[in-house]
Amino acid sequence: MKKYLVANWKSNKERNTISTWLTTFQGSLISLDQAKVQVVIAPPFSLLANLHQEIGQKSKNTINQIALAVQDISPFPAGSYTGAVSITNLVGFDVEFAIVGHSERRRYFHETHQDVANKVARCVEAGITPIVCVDDEYISDQASAIAPEHIEKCIVAYEELGAIGTGHNESAAKVKSVVERIKLVFNQVPVLYGGSVNSSNIEEYISVVDGVLVGTASLDPEAFAKIVTHCLVE
Ligand code: PGA
Repeated sequence: MKKYLVANWKSNKERNTISTWLTTFQGSLISLDQAKVQVVIAPPFSLLANLHQEIGQKSKNTINQIALAVQDISPFPAGSYTGAVSITNLVGFDVEFAIVGHSERRRYFHETHQDVANKVARCVEAGITPIVCVDDEYISDQASAIAPEHIEKCIVAYEELGAIGTGHNESAAKVKSVVERIKLVFNQVPVLYGGSVNSSNIEEYISVVDGVLVGTASLDPEAFAKIVTHCLVE
């Protein structure tokens, strides 16, 4: 099965750095064979249009195989919800994936399992694949909040809270056992791991997950290209 390699830029990067990131990433890759990998970039909302345009302008086919994601989405449809970005606002930007329920959204913005389930619903209605983030403690609670008919449309990202942004990645053995549990609850959907993945430890995870959610290491295009390359040569 192909591996999903998701770059989550979080609240980093400025508009004028996008082109250089893409050029360096492209220059550091051998290919983006879509039978083996699906590369996804999740920029901040304000950089989505720019990244979409830059990907469209790069002529080499490696770069236009990159898919776009958003880091969050409104649980509401289009309407009077000041500050929220709805699915409708994404039309025209070829967004294929949406990260929902990231631990940082739950922690700093107090998102609940039901909020996340509502976001999943908005994504599924629009044909966007939700990447639902879960910690091992609430896998079942999150799954039960999601409409049963939406479960199989999800990708799940297992986030080990102590490993997010800390440089202390979780052991492959623990990741393997949590991934197996998630697959039982989420009906065998693809499961990614997120938590201090980098080009030195990616090899530990390749055989036990369907992909990785990469924060810090994705800010550096060469480091992210190395992660992709490890999965291509597997
Ligand atoms: P990190 O972030 O790679 O910086 O730990 C991962 C994540 O947020 O899932």
